[in-house]
Amino acid sequence: MTNLAQQLEMLFPAEDQVPDEFRIEELHQREYLVDGEIRPWDGPTQEVVSPVFIQTPNGLVRKVIGSYPLPMDDNEALDALDAAVRAFDNGRGEWPTLSVTDRIHCMERFVGKMMEQKKDVVNLLMWEIGKTLADSIKEFDRTVQYIYDTIDAFKDIDRAGSRFRIEEGIIGQIRRSPLGVVLCMGPFNYPLNETYTTLIPAILMGNTVLFKPPKHGTLLHYPLLEAFRTSFPKGVVNTVYGRGATVVPTLMKSGKINVLALIGSSRVADSLKKMHPKSNRLRAILSLDAKNAAIILPDADIELTVKECMLGTMSFNGQRCTALKILWVHRSVADAFLQRFGEELNKLKPGMPWGKGAQVTPLPEPGKPAYLDECLRDAEAQGARIMNEGGGTTVESFVFPALVYPVKEGMKLYREEQFGPVVPVVPFDDIEEPIDYIINSDHGQQVSIFGSETGQIAHLIDPLVNQVSRVNINAQCQRGPDTFPFTGRKDSAEGTLSVEDALRSFSIRTVVATKDTEQNKSILNDIVEQHKSEFLSTKFIF
Ligand code: G3H
Repeated sequence: MTNLAQQLEMLFPAEDQVPDEFRIEELHQREYLVDGEIRPWDGPTQEVVSPVFIQTPNGLVRKVIGSYPLPMDDNEALDALDAAVRAFDNGRGEWPTLSVTDRIHCMERFVGKMMEQKKDVVNLLMWEIGKTLADSIKEFDRTVQYIYDTIDAFKDIDRAGSRFRIEEGIIGQIRRSPLGVVLCMGPFNYPLNETYTTLIPAILMGNTVLFKPPKHGTLLHYPLLEAFRTSFPKGVVNTVYGRGATVVPTLMKSGKINVLALIGSSRVADSLKKMHPKSNRLRAILSLDAKNAAIILPDADIELTVKECMLGTMSFNGQRCTALKILWVHRSVADAFLQRFGEELNKLKPGMPWGKGAQVTPLPEPGKPAYLDECLRDAEAQGARIMNEGGGTTVESFVFPALVYPVKEGMKLYREEQFGPVVPVVPFDDIEEPIDYIINSDHGQQVSIFGSETGQIAHLIDPLVNQVSRVNINAQCQRGPDTFPFTGRKDSAEGTLSVEDALRSFSIRTVVATKDTEQNKSILNDIVEQHKSEFLSTKFIF
């Protein structure tokens, strides 16, 4: 065993070395939320193991942190679907017809109760997916902020819809209406934040939802179920557990899902969409695979580039959909870049998620270390080298980051989304090479350009804005600020998910119109003055 491997192994704690404030009691969830009730569950369960291993007399053992319901058939999922369908009631249910002000009050109540659960949720984020304490807190706080921003954006949308328009002899009022039953599924890397960036706007717009937590990052939703139950009318929020491969197809094949909101893989999204019997009825809001590239030009500021590429490739061990997953570097600066990047990479501090200053943490997907090793062996067999000392050293769920060079077409790392702490670097001589790579990619989320000569940067911006959805200059790729549009082309996304765009994605513009006659005007006036309709109304929310 190498020194580094020994050091990594020693980082896993014995049970009594876990600091008191981060200890975890096993959490065995035996309840689920359906139709406004927290129902007991006494059927089969799924054991939840942590990416964190524990030192025992028998060696390292993966820590068991709890379990959750795992129905073996589709009955519970279909019950949840029926509850959501009933609550929407073809748009006539309590929730879709509730006033905007009342819906906002429910959401405010929810976020207040959510904040009371912060400590438990943050601890579960660390134990379930290995996210650092600082990033887990950030994920929670960012989600709360997202909810408040969404409420504000919702008020703006409603204010814009509170006036009548008169054009070409037609009087109309234009507002946004809900779409129906939404199936929300988030990813393991942002199990709280990214699930809520679809769930919250979907609910607020008046839809009813089925919500299936991700495979890793399920238990952290448990402390929030009561807040959902007590904040919204029954059937508005329903949970779905069970094996995704069987339960979700059943829901899609029912034809009763109006919106598929999935943050996950394009392969899964592709097949699920095809299962819906009424393809035109289904809307899809998807945030999928990505293989964001950095293009490092000859005149790039190397220190700044190293810093941003480090953040871009290594935050949360490279497990972000927006991570930089391939670095194209001009051959004239390749040596300088590799030297400095390798040095900085080896300064990253491995540790437990709660460890002070930890930057490299255990990976939650059990098969990931073996997959990354396969990628490294494949690259080496085709002539690439691991450039940093100890890169790729693996001890159970710990993988020390690896810098791989020179990567070329034909290697797994060239096209596959590694979603982990491996940084493939490709040298180029002609700027057309990275442009061709992006054009021929199945992905189209973002790109980062590093350089200083404005002519060259501009020459890249123009072709790239027609290939990806965000071009970052001298900065890593990222989703935020959450008010910026977050989307992608090709297999990377469908629909847009900023705070405001998400509200639009989960609703449809709807018009009530009439001809501009005295009789019609007096009908409209009577409805509005007597507050007879929620839709046809000039109420202005302050
Ligand atoms: O996993 C994808 C996330 O949306 C990325 O968000 O860029 O803020 O880490 P982020």
